[in-house]
Amino acid sequence: MRGQFITFEGGEGAGKTTQAERLAKALNNAGIETLLTREPGGTFGAEAIRDLVLSGTSERWSGLTELLLMYAARLDHVEKLIEPALDRGVWVISDRFTDSSMAYQGYARGLGKDRVEAVHKAVLDDFEPDITILFDMDPVMAMKRVETRGEEISRFDAESIEFHKVLRDAFHHIAEKNSDRFRTINADASRDAVHTQILFAITQKYPDLAGQLTDGA
Ligand code: TYD
Repeated sequence: MRGQFITFEGGEGAGKTTQAERLAKALNNAGIETLLTREPGGTFGAEAIRDLVLSGTSERWSGLTELLLMYAARLDHVEKLIEPALDRGVWVISDRFTDSSMAYQGYARGLGKDRVEAVHKAVLDDFEPDITILFDMDPVMAMKRVETRGEEISRFDAESIEFHKVLRDAFHHIAEKNSDRFRTINADASRDAVHTQILFAITQKYPDLAGQLTDGA
């Protein structure tokens, strides 16, 4: 049976990466093989594009160039890693995917929905995740988390709080328009509470897993 494609979306500092690892463990405990990946990146070529697109000043790339770089990386990722894994029956969890392009480049950078949809259609046709978990969080709190993590600040982390507020609204809007696919969770909660919300969302989508998904801590 074909695997399922799960994506995690949201602004910066919402804890997606840790939660993706924990969900993968929970699925493994239920006997499901998983593959954890991220965007931009996931393959050798896409990681090289990631370096290009995330470093430098915020003016380094125009919104459209950024979008095209994201989709160049994404096509490599889908063709070489995601599709083959799904075909083998592996469940793929990606930390960000196409909805990030719509939110960041389409809305926050102002390229517009139609432009992003046109590029999506040209590159990936109708390919989309089976379920998308949106990590919703107050951007002021989220930026505090990013600062205290002490990681290198990416071009996007360096954007203003205003940019991150627009981004949050954009994700809400995208989630509303794709309500079949999206589940929104409150990422302000504790790590355990966020994990519980994710397991709940997954069992709602896959009722056969009810009772099988135990804490992936
Ligand atoms: P990353 O450090 O992985 O951020 P996070 O931990 O918040 O996911 O950097 C990825 C950045 O790239 C993030 O700021 C969002 C941005 N991005 C886009 O602008 N468009 C896209 O299509 C994708 C996948 C990511």
